Amino acid sequence: MSRQGAHIIVVGNEKGGSGKSTVAMHVIIGLLRQGFSVASVDVDSRQGTLTRYLANRNAFVKAAGSDIKCPDHYTVEPPKGYEQGADAEPDSAKEQRLRLLLEGGFVNHDIVVVDTPGSAGKLSDLAHSYADTLLTPINDSFVDLDVLAHIDGVRMAVMGPSQYAEMVWKQKKVRAERDGGSVDWLVMRNRLSSLDAHNKRKMDDVLKDLSKRIGLRIVPGFGERVIFRELFLAGLTILDLKDAVGPQALSKSHLAAREEVENLLAAISLPGAVARP
Ligand SMILES: Nc1ncnc2c1ncn2[C@@H]1O[C@H](COP(=O)(O)OP(=O)(O)OP(=O)(O)O)[C@@H](O)[C@H]1O
Ligand SMILES: [Mg+2]
Repeated sequence: MSRQGAHIIVVGNEKGGSGKSTVAMHVIIGLLRQGFSVASVDVDSRQGTLTRYLANRNAFVKAAGSDIKCPDHYTVEPPKGYEQGADAEPDSAKEQRLRLLLEGGFVNHDIVVVDTPGSAGKLSDLAHSYADTLLTPINDSFVDLDVLAHIDGVRMAVMGPSQYAEMVWKQKKVRAERDGGSVDWLVMRNRLSSLDAHNKRKMDDVLKDLSKRIGLRIVPGFGERVIFRELFLAGLTILDLKDAVGPQALSKSHLAAREEVENLLAAISLPGAVARP
């Protein structure tokens, strides 16, 4: 039996600081601008980066009287007054809420984007098990690649999947058993440098090998650009910039950043029912 409701995009990687929340925000705003109705869920209640990014956006909208679009946003914090049984597991209330949110199917939304924490845990596992699309940003470094796969540094070859890839594999099985659904796993490189062509090429080769071996798709990534981080306090993204600050020309780097986000969005396959408007 297939699950009803919105298409779920989970942004995940057990490696902290790989760009999950930044990517989640840009995907949310990009999809809203394409005309989808989008809900967002922040599973990382400890840091709450996406929640704060969106709170900053709401504040901007109020202060500027702007009509830029915002998603319907949810956190996994249990509602006020919720009392957990004394013998309950620490995160069980959050797990229950996440399950309810995602199984509710967001019938009024086309797409749900879920941001997950940069560490392993039951909540993150659960979120991954609901993904229709799993989007994994990795910093362009072999240190970051190590959570996906063990690499033989002499032969520059993939020796086998490591902890995060194993977890994704496990959650794919959980998903298949629950509703027969499958997961489209996309990996994007983040903070790509215009220098260091040698490292870039080596990463290219290893990722190609990895994509064949563990069934993932490499999709266009983001460069290392100030614009991907400097708009956090305003709650804006490069996609809003022209609308929010007026029609002045964007710089070359801004245009390149915008194109990177658009290329990533184009690589996300959506099912017929959620085809691009
Ligand atoms: N393409 C980019 N160019 C420049 N800075 C970036 C880029 N992507 C992310 N950053 C910056 O890198 C840092 C980590 O990004 P972010 O918080 O999105 O990662 P994360 O994976 O969500 O982290 P965590 O695992 O802690 O939740 C932030 O300072 C962010 O502004
Ligand atoms: Mg984050």
